[in-house]
Amino acid sequence: MDRLMEAGLPVASSCGGDGVCTKCRLFVSGTASAPSQHESFLLKKIQAAPQERISCQVIGPGDIEVDARYW
Ligand code: FES
Repeated sequence: MDRLMEAGLPVASSCGGDGVCTKCRLFVSGTASAPSQHESFLLKKIQAAPQERISCQVIGPGDIEVDARYW
């Protein structure tokens, strides 16, 4: 989420990246880290699609591609 916002892309959020609102959900592909226990809980709660991630919880050490329903 931080990397996207630094690039000037809008990311929905009402919790400021605290991992609460789930509004920052995005479709992510590439070398992102595996979801943490907290993110896995959130993904299950929102019944996320297989490639959806909570962007403020994703750590992408390499190149990742993202897409959102609202872009
Ligand atoms: S910004 Fe709220 S969960 Fe990611």
